[in-house]
Amino acid sequence: MTGPVQHTTATSPLLRAAAGLPGSASDPVPVWFMRQAGRSLPEYFPVRGDGTILDAIRAPDRATEITLQPVRRYGVDAAILFSDIVTPVWASGFGIDITPGVGPTCEHPFASADDLGRLRPLDADADLAFQTETVHQLVAELTVPLIGFAGAPFTLAAYLVEGRPSRDHAKVKSLMTGQPELWHRLADRLSDLAITTLLAQVAAGASAVQLFDSWAGVLHPDLYRRYVAPHSARILAAVADAAPDIPRFHFGINTGELLDQMAGAGADVVGVDWRTSLSVARRRTGGSVALQGNLDPALCLGPWEIVEAEVRRILADNNGHPGHIFNLGHGVLPTTDPDILGRIVALVHSEGRADGPTTTETLRTNPLPDPEPSTR
Ligand code: CP3
Repeated sequence: MTGPVQHTTATSPLLRAAAGLPGSASDPVPVWFMRQAGRSLPEYFPVRGDGTILDAIRAPDRATEITLQPVRRYGVDAAILFSDIVTPVWASGFGIDITPGVGPTCEHPFASADDLGRLRPLDADADLAFQTETVHQLVAELTVPLIGFAGAPFTLAAYLVEGRPSRDHAKVKSLMTGQPELWHRLADRLSDLAITTLLAQVAAGASAVQLFDSWAGVLHPDLYRRYVAPHSARILAAVADAAPDIPRFHFGINTGELLDQMAGAGADVVGVDWRTSLSVARRRTGGSVALQGNLDPALCLGPWEIVEAEVRRILADNNGHPGHIFNLGHGVLPTTDPDILGRIVALVHSEGRADGPTTTETLRTNPLPDPEPSTR
């Protein structure tokens, strides 16, 4: 047995880009997709079976197979562990489910200091043994890096306090601003869960981690600065202390106004959604981090010509800067045709470049080909 492959910036385009280094001539711009596993793949359903998604997550053989499916199919530059941001909360015994077609739901949402006791600290050896086993199986099979992940405190709290996916996030915002002491205690507990989860994934062999703060963009930058950034920074610092070589990705949607703070929280790579051009994101982060993104997942449902034009525009918008990891601006939609994703990977691999900017940095504001002229 040779043991798992050790991925380094010398061997992995993803890790090179995450470190802001130029790509190799043969594989300049790495690409993977958030939610690349799961419902967009026909081969997912027989493996997932009839149980809940949490059942599949805690069955290492099934979680391993589901993680590998998109890697085999697309030739992406990374795998992402098949799990969910609520897995550690579920493992702590809080009482959370993933309701099909809805998302995370809690029968008894977080409402007062009494509920802090329901977020029991995790003992990774006992509570996350299934996850450690999955990571071991994955790194024994994979020839590309495995990305581990956890949910950031704000995005997790949004589900725990609201009890279900929310449009206005009113309850979690009012807890934060109205009972700041309780908010910080809740966020501290959730940060501890994230730290235990990420360090267990890294110890088992994950080569990078992503902190999902998907809903942070609903906050004004001042609220984010005061109530959220310190907690996410503590998580990212704990990973850096324990594993200085592991790149830390920090992701949310609608975060155009937060990109500088999300970088400043201690990220190596910041996720950018489709609402912000990469060139703008680079200015806002002062070139201090690598960027990941930023194709609109909805456009992947359209004809290939539209997708192709968008991919080319995004690559041109990046303008050859080292430190670009191609991805969608959010997760793959379940109705996406997998063939489109395969063609995106091939196009990014053949057309991407990361050998430095060549043209004057300009804003490209006309993303899509003009529609057919009107016949009226
Ligand atoms: O990216 C990957 O391939 C790894 C797998 C992954 C899942 N969830 C599996 C999953 C990842 C990275 C997540 C993270 C996650 N989960 C986030 C952060 C990323 C984001 O989308 O912003 C959030 C907010 C969640 C919470 C969650 N879990 C939602 C909103 C849903 C959708 C519910 C639905 O039915 O529409 C889930 C369920 C979920 N997580 C599915 C998968 C494959 C689908 C459930 C199924 O297979 O039945």
